Amino acid sequence: MRPGPLIRRLFGPHERRVAEAYRRIFVDLDELAGLMSAWVPRAQRILEVGCGEGAMTERIARAYPTAAVTAIDISPRVGRLFRGQTFAVTFRQETIADLVCREPASFDLVVLSDVIHHVPADARRSLIGAIDQAIAPNGSLFFKDWVVSASPIHWLCALSDRYLTGDDVAYCTLGGLSALVTDVFGPGTIRRMDTVRPWHNNVAVLLQRSDQPFSRDTANR
Ligand SMILES: C[S@@+](CC[C@H](N)C(=O)[O-])C[C@H]1O[C@@H](n2cnc3c(N)ncnc32)[C@H](O)[C@@H]1O
Repeated sequence: MRPGPLIRRLFGPHERRVAEAYRRIFVDLDELAGLMSAWVPRAQRILEVGCGEGAMTERIARAYPTAAVTAIDISPRVGRLFRGQTFAVTFRQETIADLVCREPASFDLVVLSDVIHHVPADARRSLIGAIDQAIAPNGSLFFKDWVVSASPIHWLCALSDRYLTGDDVAYCTLGGLSALVTDVFGPGTIRRMDTVRPWHNNVAVLLQRSDQPFSRDTANR
């Protein structure tokens, strides 16, 4: 039994506020969303894969108020703590493989935030492959993950992931992450990369296929 959900339920009506404060110890999701909208200023159909309870989905919906957002997760707790305009956001408990069968090449922006280290190493390539199939021509993948380091904050993050979420997490190095995504998208497809406060372990990456010219005016951050 994972202790995280049980502990969080003890906070009752304050659960969402506590969850936000706890997440802020590790990553500033508002800065992450700012980076995303600076790199990809326009998107009409957005897919978030591994949306969890909706913390990043809220920021996506705020950053792209006219977009249709689909948010999926394999967890039954999908979108549970989302607050915001719901008319343009659809939460579903489903796999990316199932979604892509129904809606191939449909999304001009796919977002993957803090998911890869939760996915077993031997399943990561097929996850990125399915995401590649979900992206429309000229679309982008914006992803963020926590990269490994020999530091107290990394050990705290690993302990919290392992013992609070109860997931068997495994973090990549920056080189490992880059290799994973370029193995699917192809060499030269990483268009932007930056770190996100408060820790250099938070790495955000923008990928666009190599057949797509990169517009520098979208990336002046
Ligand atoms: C740390 S949470 C991140 C939630 C959200 N993206 C955010 O940044 O707030 C990681 C999520 O990845 C989900 N996940 C793990 N493996 C997945 C997979 N193969 N497909 C979709 N979601 C997955 C988990 O269920 C969990 O909700």
